[in-house]
Amino acid sequence: MAFTLNVNGQEHTIDAPEDTPLLYVLRDELGLHGARYGCGVGQCGACTVLSNGAPLRSCVVPAARLRERNLTTVEGLRGPDGAQHALHRAFVAEQAGQCAYCIPGMVMTAAALLKAKPRPTEAELRAALDANLCRCGSHNRIVRAIQRAAEELAR
Ligand code: FES
Ligand code: FES
Repeated sequence: MAFTLNVNGQEHTIDAPEDTPLLYVLRDELGLHGARYGCGVGQCGACTVLSNGAPLRSCVVPAARLRERNLTTVEGLRGPDGAQHALHRAFVAEQAGQCAYCIPGMVMTAAALLKAKPRPTEAELRAALDANLCRCGSHNRIVRAIQRAAEELAR
């Protein structure tokens, strides 16, 4: 089945079975490897991307259902000139990742949060990340990184 997807501002024609999850299309068809396969059942958040600005677990949603959406992956947070987003810089500065497997999902969840609420409290931040799992226990550094990015974006 052929359909069109808008990913990171570009239109792509995809030819894949109707029930192919978005995550597989991103990684296998479009070569966008930022979103990760963790659990495959919508439980861990490693595959999180944005759909019209809202977090979406790309492992459980068929890509063909997302034809009318603007999809953003962690790669798409970069500026048009390739510049890193404040979240990218802050995660590096705070050494937020240990193995980093969860980090793209954390970054995308944080990007949606900061768009909706530029200066979240720590409690709001932790609540937003509650369903994003980090098996390395890096949550405190991840929270610090998002707070750092929020400060930079507010300047
Ligand atoms: S891989 Fe999608 S939520 Fe875990
Ligand atoms: S840094 Fe390893 S899973 Fe989060």
